[in-house]
Amino acid sequence: MLRTHTCGELTELNVGQTATLCGWVDSYRDHGGGLFVDLRDRYGMTQVVFNPPDSSPGLIEQSKSLRAEYVIRVTGVVAARPEGMENPKLSTGGIELRATAMELLNKSLTPPVSPNANAQDLPGEDLRLKYRYLDLRRPELQRVMLMRDRMVKSMRDYCAELQFIDVETPCLGRSTPEGARDYLVPSRVHHGAFYALPQSPQLYKQILMVAGYDRYVQVARCFRDEDLRADRQPEFTQLDLEMSFVDSDDVMGVIDGLCQTLAKEELGLELQLPLPRMTYDEAMRRYGHDAPDLRFGLEIVDLSDLAPESNFGVFKSVVAEGGSVRAINAKGGGEFYSRRGIDALTEFVRGVGAKGLAWFKCEADGKLNSTIAKFFDDALLQRFAARLGAEPGDLVLFSADKWEMTCKVLHALRTKIGREMKLYDPRSMHFSWVVEFPMFAYDAEEGAWAAMHHPFTAPLDEHVPLLATDPGRMRAKAYDLVINGSEAGGGTIRIHNSTVQAQVFNLLGIDEQRQQERFGFLLDALQYGAPPHGGIALGIDRWVMLFGRLESIRDCIAFPKTQKASDLMTEAPGAVDARQVRELSIRVVE
Ligand code: AMO
Ligand code: AMP
Repeated sequence: MLRTHTCGELTELNVGQTATLCGWVDSYRDHGGGLFVDLRDRYGMTQVVFNPPDSSPGLIEQSKSLRAEYVIRVTGVVAARPEGMENPKLSTGGIELRATAMELLNKSLTPPVSPNANAQDLPGEDLRLKYRYLDLRRPELQRVMLMRDRMVKSMRDYCAELQFIDVETPCLGRSTPEGARDYLVPSRVHHGAFYALPQSPQLYKQILMVAGYDRYVQVARCFRDEDLRADRQPEFTQLDLEMSFVDSDDVMGVIDGLCQTLAKEELGLELQLPLPRMTYDEAMRRYGHDAPDLRFGLEIVDLSDLAPESNFGVFKSVVAEGGSVRAINAKGGGEFYSRRGIDALTEFVRGVGAKGLAWFKCEADGKLNSTIAKFFDDALLQRFAARLGAEPGDLVLFSADKWEMTCKVLHALRTKIGREMKLYDPRSMHFSWVVEFPMFAYDAEEGAWAAMHHPFTAPLDEHVPLLATDPGRMRAKAYDLVINGSEAGGGTIRIHNSTVQAQVFNLLGIDEQRQQERFGFLLDALQYGAPPHGGIALGIDRWVMLFGRLESIRDCIAFPKTQKASDLMTEAPGAVDARQVRELSIRVVE
């Protein structure tokens, strides 16, 4: 070992001892007579002093050549800092190391990303991603990586305790059914054939249930070639679980306990179990979204029955065409949003797809008022106000459109207003379930049904007959975990009955040949004594992002990719030798 202690270890208890530290020069201050260096490693920071009489004139001279991020090994005597010079923010803040010898282990070029920069002084993200090794030296990123390590370990420990066994599944496989675009890997041996990187271990974990493993878990890498956003990466990590002889409640129960354990360990939060549950239909009705942020209210109110009684053309025609008139009441929003503020909200909802944003302010006398008030008689306005719970100072905002569009618009508006009006503490955490998702969504463009989750998802028992009559109304044994308005996990109970499975494939227009091609091996396996089973996958990156209160998923991944799916450090994806491409019997078209 080159060192006796780490840079986070020495305290008043070590005063008088000789110690050797290794680390990076975080900062240095020349005080004429000598030099003060803050020496940093993963464990912390220790002040090293090059001063007479402990340091010889030669050593002091040598120390003056130190620059930021030089790597040194330094030996000295631990001493209490002079009175008034202590730094209570550091565990090592009561002591300093008075240097008696130093070895320069390595120099550093001037770092383009300073590991000790304040958040506001950091260079742009592109530069930080290019020099990720410097960025990763920042204590803030190290805090997140350590938290991620602890969280994943807790997840594994929790599952092991419950008899889950960790089984690794292949990355080179067949296309999986999550429905995003696959990353393909050409085979050199089988000309013209491709592996697909897994979008999840879905099919393998179901096979493991057929194989009798009862409870499977894996920290699994998943690959999806989809449009990236702040909470999506092309490769990401799931805590992937599957269980035999269970129903939805059992799977949710396991995850409830996991939420409770991690919330306690990482956030010091006591979660009450079971976590609240809401059906998909209720979530859409009250919040317009299947992963609502329940840290605040601002619920959607439906006024489609009252709206046609007005003379307001937009409301009348929308309802006549089968659409909806729905609204949210921003409490106190009448004062918070000026006319210009409302114009900005209108611009915003137009960006989401709305045709406009009708609004009312509730006046001091309790009356709703707006430029469109003339289209409503007083009695009707009173009924609106009563339904909306409008009180003086409130701002009511309307979306009149197809029901689906009102959901989209009011969800976006609700999220924006919740944030702008600070309707919740941004550090608070809310965990809940959304359950009983629709089995199928109808794609009008394609004129076809698509599976909402994946085609192995079981319907509610009482909904099986609807397969033949009204598939749109069928609800699934499906559950999503929602943390602060983010989909933090999702899973289902699977179909283990081959008749129902065949009916589902039929509805989805997946004929026998394609069934065999795509998942023949699973369908075969299901015929050899498949137990009832189900599972879930949690997005670990999203968990860390939410637990760490981070803005972007890239901030909790050591080597993330940009919006354009490139790695700025390695410059992947990159060109390859013409020979490599030829070997794969592939030609690149310009
Ligand atoms: P699903 O597709 O819902 O389910 O994925 C599960 C969870 O993974 C996370 N996630 C992502 N995180 C980061 N970047 C992405 N691109 C990304 N995509 C998904 C989300 C999501 O809730 N096999 C099924 C699970 C099952 O049925 O058991 C599956 O993969 O947090
Ligand atoms: P107009 O009759 O187009 O001048 O619109 C009157 C008000 O209704 C304006 O505040 C518009 O923003 C709003 N509005 C128009 N279309 C809609 C709609 N589909 N939903 C909600 N408000 C709308």
